[in-house]
Amino acid sequence: MRLRRMKRGSPLLEGEGQGEVCASSGEDAKRPNEGAIHREPLPRPVVCWLPDRLPLPLQASGKGRRRPGDPSGGVPHLTPTLSFQERGHARGFLALIASVTFAVSAVATEIPPGERRSGFDAMAPETRAMQEDDTSNPGMLWVQDGAELWAQPPSPGKPACAGCHGAAEAGMRGVAARYPAFDARSGRPIDLQGRINTCRREHQGAEPLALEGRDLLSLAAYVANQSRGSAVAPPADPRLDPARAQGRALFTARMGQLGLSCAACHDDNHGRRLGSATIPQGHPTGYPLYRLEWQGLGSLGRRLRNCMTGMRAEPFAAGDPEAIALEAYLMQRAAPLLIETPAVRP
Ligand code: HEC
Ligand code: HEC
Repeated sequence: MRLRRMKRGSPLLEGEGQGEVCASSGEDAKRPNEGAIHREPLPRPVVCWLPDRLPLPLQASGKGRRRPGDPSGGVPHLTPTLSFQERGHARGFLALIASVTFAVSAVATEIPPGERRSGFDAMAPETRAMQEDDTSNPGMLWVQDGAELWAQPPSPGKPACAGCHGAAEAGMRGVAARYPAFDARSGRPIDLQGRINTCRREHQGAEPLALEGRDLLSLAAYVANQSRGSAVAPPADPRLDPARAQGRALFTARMGQLGLSCAACHDDNHGRRLGSATIPQGHPTGYPLYRLEWQGLGSLGRRLRNCMTGMRAEPFAAGDPEAIALEAYLMQRAAPLLIETPAVRP
């Protein structure tokens, strides 16, 4: 396995001054050509430390990324909390590098099934309340859009999702809990979004929907919402084992300029503070989910790119097989927690 994300000693680190303005394509940039599952890797992101802030990839163009302190286009009453949190995150990551007490064990210990906890448990009461009440959960707007798309033919004469699958409440129940799954046609694991796009291509004669685009997120949220309350149930399919092993190797490998692994935070230091955030165990039980910092719905892939940018590692491109492998391992690591889609997270 290739670990091309090791970027120690790259000129980035030396060249960056505090507050220096550097720019590039961020991991969050909306990419107009994000249609296909297979894509060229993202150009290497340039990340800069702004004083007192998260390392934010600055976008040269594109829309959708809320800048800290900019209340436009979002949920206005949440904005002050957000900038506070972002400042907290930044201090956290910086403190982390300096910290000698941050326990990084040589061999990461997996969390036993009985001790697995959703990120929901560590959230502030207001954020939990927002997730639990469908009338205040902003993710439900995407779920409603997904319900419309489910019933709508992609073009005249082509079957709607509902045309083949019937009512999603029956046909899609529990489905999201067992993705990523092995796709015999392509001979590799696919996640739920990949599966939906396969149906678009093969059963609807339509173009695949853009990854991270509103339509695919809405359909995925609608389908996954049918599994809310179902326990994560990774398929006992040995064809997934190589991907899960690769995902585990990625999870425990040090990557990026800070020399951190995912496990260093999510296995060894969950429950500890990182600035104003509490490090969760990192279970993908609520995706796609509404993140207050995004002011929108996003996929698990996007969440992983956020963590990788924080680690100053080169983030995975959307739909990258390594990202799917990591997702397959994360789902196994999360079982038997319950699906929460659409979850809300800070
Ligand atoms: C022409 C019929 C047809 C249409 C239209 C269709 N599908 Fe499918 N879908 C299938 C079949 C058949 C399967 C089983 C796997 C296979 O053979 O491709 C499937 C499988 C799935 C699965 C995986 C189910 C599982 O248990 O793993 C999901 C999720 C799904 N479809 C979602 C959708 C969505 C969302 C749409 C609309 C965008 C859609 N499908 C449109 C026929 C269809
Ligand atoms: C420096 C510590 C750190 C590292 C390293 C890190 N993360 Fe995270 N991760 C966090 C924090 C903090 C959050 C929660 C942020 C928030 O929502 O406020 C988080 C959130 C997550 C979540 C979302 C959980 C949920 O409830 O939705 C997942 C999944 C995740 N991380 C996976 C990973 C993976 C995979 C890696 C390695 C590629 C990784 N993280 C590396 C700190 C870290």
